[in-house]
Amino acid sequence: METMWISSEQLDRAAQLLQSEEVVAFPTETVYGLGADATSSQAIQGIYQAKGRPSDNPLIVHIAQRSQLMELTTYVPPKAQQLMDQFWPGPLTIILNVKRQAVAPEVTAGLATIGIRMPDHPLALELIRQVGRPIAAPSSNTSGKPSPTTAQHVMDDLAGKIAAVVDGGETGVGLESTVIDLTSEVPTILRPGGVSAEEIRLCIGAVEMAGVDKQEAAPKSPGMKYRHYSPEQPVWIVETDWADTVAKLLKKGEKIGILASDDVLSQFQTEAIATYSLGAQSDITQASKRLYSGLRALDKTEATIILVQAYKKSGLGIAYMNRLEKASSKC
Ligand code: TXA
Ligand code: MG
Repeated sequence: METMWISSEQLDRAAQLLQSEEVVAFPTETVYGLGADATSSQAIQGIYQAKGRPSDNPLIVHIAQRSQLMELTTYVPPKAQQLMDQFWPGPLTIILNVKRQAVAPEVTAGLATIGIRMPDHPLALELIRQVGRPIAAPSSNTSGKPSPTTAQHVMDDLAGKIAAVVDGGETGVGLESTVIDLTSEVPTILRPGGVSAEEIRLCIGAVEMAGVDKQEAAPKSPGMKYRHYSPEQPVWIVETDWADTVAKLLKKGEKIGILASDDVLSQFQTEAIATYSLGAQSDITQASKRLYSGLRALDKTEATIILVQAYKKSGLGIAYMNRLEKASSKC
């Protein structure tokens, strides 16, 4: 199939395709999503197929209005209301109990719960409104690759496999939404993201971090067990020992790609075969926005290894380091 490139002025064409059970990529404030009608099994199977996504990894359902919640869940607890009041529309996915038969069974991968989010992007909101149905959308990358932050990234992965991509330019946050489970006794963050744990604590009180506060036998968020966000070339995280690391790798004959802040890059202009800037050293917001595009860009160069700068694990830095650690792990 030929994938249509749809401009923001032709949103109605994207809406029509979604209504005809086709799969369409669209921008959100976090990353591009791969959308399909959440009520259609056929449409949802198209998502899993295009991405090569394991069928036991559930999808996030996107809505444009709070009134759509009642179609999807049996109960909205008070803490969910508080979170929605403060962070919606925005990069926060809330896991609630699913209403039976509200969505195609493939959306929740057989779980009794459903992840719901209202994205903070005018094109995403308008598209969902025009379709008039909840839209399931994982990130719009091939499974295992970094999430796309531009329409071109989507095309690089999925051209020929999906009906269309809506071009909304570069996404804002650059990392996926925070996923919080409100069906457990204590609210649990399953995936750190655009809204920080500190912000959530200030809003609803105690929260746990999955995999941090307690060891779980089975991952609660099925997606977190897979290798993720990875380019083809090996990714190494560098904290401070840049000079040593670069010298050692050069000796071994490696061609080095560096993804780091401007002041780090300026020291290795001759040693690196390719560089990509994460912005100013102090700016974690900028670094988060550029991480995935940097990984994708350096993966296209001659580099045989990609060195990426570590940031402090607080605020958005927790999400940044979570994705970077996954990109660099080989399991
Ligand atoms: O920012 C985002 O969240 C982007 C944009 C497109 O909205 N979407 C996204 O979707 O990152 P995806 O499919 O790449 O990641 C969804 C994560 C996965 O780790 C999945 O396992 C988890 O959310 N998830 C979805 N539904 C769940 C559920 N019912 N229970 C537990 N985890 C769930
Ligand atoms: Mg994803």
